Amino acid sequence: MSSHATPIPMTSAACGPLTGVADVPGDKSISHRSLILGAMAVGETRISGLLEGEDVLDTAAAMRAFGAEVTDLGHGNWSVHGVGVGGFAEPDWVIDCGNSGTSVRLIMGAMATCPITATFSGDASLNKRPMARVTDPIALFGAVSVGRSGGRLPMTIVGAANPVPVRYTVPMPSAQVKSAVLLAGLNAPGQTVVIEKEATRDHTERMLAGFGAEITTEVTEEGRVITLTGQPELQPQTITVPRDPSSAAFPVCAALIVPGSDVLIPNIGLNPTRAGLFITLRDMGADLTYENERLEGGEPVADLRARYSPDMKGIAVPPERAASMIDEYPILSVVAAFAQGDTEMRGVKELRVKESDRIDAMATGLRACGVTVEDGPDWWVVTGGKTVEGGARCASHLDHRIAMSFMVLGMATEQPVQLDDGSPIATSFPIFEPLMARLGAQITRDPG
Ligand code: S3P
Repeated sequence: MSSHATPIPMTSAACGPLTGVADVPGDKSISHRSLILGAMAVGETRISGLLEGEDVLDTAAAMRAFGAEVTDLGHGNWSVHGVGVGGFAEPDWVIDCGNSGTSVRLIMGAMATCPITATFSGDASLNKRPMARVTDPIALFGAVSVGRSGGRLPMTIVGAANPVPVRYTVPMPSAQVKSAVLLAGLNAPGQTVVIEKEATRDHTERMLAGFGAEITTEVTEEGRVITLTGQPELQPQTITVPRDPSSAAFPVCAALIVPGSDVLIPNIGLNPTRAGLFITLRDMGADLTYENERLEGGEPVADLRARYSPDMKGIAVPPERAASMIDEYPILSVVAAFAQGDTEMRGVKELRVKESDRIDAMATGLRACGVTVEDGPDWWVVTGGKTVEGGARCASHLDHRIAMSFMVLGMATEQPVQLDDGSPIATSFPIFEPLMARLGAQITRDPG
């Protein structure tokens, strides 16, 4: 997102039943990786269904700055002529990653083993987020980084001229860190081994294998041990990006809480490392079904059907499920406000270092709307009921998922919910407002 986007205040008011078909955009995680691995292959990679949100466009611009030829062919079709593993050119200017943690962390990894220097920056949200989780492991390959205090952007990385392979245990559940290490390992000789104690989204591993890299995953007592053989020649691919379960979460959850709703959300990627929210909603008693289950491009896909579910109950979400629904806790907390009893969300410390402190951002707005929320360093509990008052002005804190969550909340509250700034929604779900309007939502932009 542009570092100086004009705030877009919005209001969401109670609406009639949400009905129809919600065609959500392509998967953000897979879109970033398609561009980055396309840029590291030799030859032309074709991508269809790319998410054209600001975060992914920032990755596309960055790949151009590193020397790849990236072309928008229209209608979500893109072409990437890659420069090969180790072939990145030195960018002429600062790489602006906007709001996107995935862009900066994956690209820092990808360039860390090339003999070039690059400087990264972002918006006010990204420049507050911790980067040591990437600069620590890339230092083991031989890269040097200099940033602001606390390991914050802006930051310059001097890539290793003679990288060595590493064996690294990722200290927190983070697919971005795992991916950064694997991408750095691509241009190191020998085998790079990454160990994760908890399984996080595995799109990088799947896509590296698809591009022809030698990569194996073994489940051991230590966790998932991922071994990558360095310096492969990546083969260009034709990639169809599945639709994003994290974006599908918003129309799904809206349908569950708005009386009379019945919404179909087709072609949603249901990779088990991403589908934790849908399991949780079903555990709560949601009327959510998978239709037409199938495999596409090696990923499980289904059409989701969500219907109004007045009898949902709060549950204790198993902490071991957290990584598979880490981006969905904000919208889950909205559903929890309409489910009877307590929804307990534990083992979710990582939520405090996302685009915003997501526990604090949601707890503050939900409380202002009359919902009881308790929270601690790595947990929060939302106490739900039949009705929610609403009527508050909530803050998005430059966080797309917080903004969309409050707009969904307002669809079912007694009083409308206002938002200070909906501009971050464009980072991941640029068609959110027209898509929700077509289903019947009442979201308006307010005078600034
Ligand atoms: C992502 C990983 C997750 C997630 C983010 C996308 C990815 O971040 O929150 O939205 O594409 O790898 P962490 O790796 O910090 O958990």
